[in-house]
Amino acid sequence: MASDEKNQNDIINSELINSYKINYIFSDKPINRFKIKPKVEDKSIELKKLKQEIENIKDCQLKDSAGKLVFSDGNNQSKIMIIGEGPGQKEDEIGKPFVGDAGMLLNKMLSAINIHREKIYITNVVNYRPPKNRKPESAEIIRYANFLRKHISIIDPKILILMGSTAMESLFGSNIKISKERGVWKNIIINNKTYLCMITFHPAYLLRQPDQKKYSWIDLKEIRKKIDQLKIIL
Ligand code: URA
Repeated sequence: MASDEKNQNDIINSELINSYKINYIFSDKPINRFKIKPKVEDKSIELKKLKQEIENIKDCQLKDSAGKLVFSDGNNQSKIMIIGEGPGQKEDEIGKPFVGDAGMLLNKMLSAINIHREKIYITNVVNYRPPKNRKPESAEIIRYANFLRKHISIIDPKILILMGSTAMESLFGSNIKISKERGVWKNIIINNKTYLCMITFHPAYLLRQPDQKKYSWIDLKEIRKKIDQLKIIL
């Protein structure tokens, strides 16, 4: 067969390709689409694996004194992810975040900006209840931050809402004050990806300091505005 004739029948027409003056690299390896957009099943598998990793944690005072592992609640496909501090008594009994008094207030805060809780994804900085509801210690926050960062990468939200100083500390460190940092949009890079993030007061803090609700309302309206700007459908 003459070489011209062969070229005409090639699947890859090398003459045509050469005419584009581009250096092509052909590979028969499959494209890694998971990196571009995790599929629903991939996400569920990754979340299961992460849950298992947390269940396997050793030498942890939180785990040893707690009842249930509190992993998350809500829609794992959501573009909005909320991060609280850690489970309280009710969460520890039921195994879901924000089901006690703070959770009731959180539900009302979300409803006030027209968000149904089940449309978003919720987790905590630590996944086991601290003894006597104490604040998680810095070493605990750092230890669980590895899990939290993985959790965020798997969910891959468009907006992250950090509720309270513990959530803020977990991702931004302990040298900043929530009263100064709340209410403004920040970027945070996690595993090479930038996330839009808002720090705001924790509902449990608002139950203790109701006079601070006016600031929380400003933050909530700002969150709603961003959801609309980004055309996020909930
Ligand atoms: N407070 C939190 O931060 N998380 C919960 O799950 C409950 C109360």
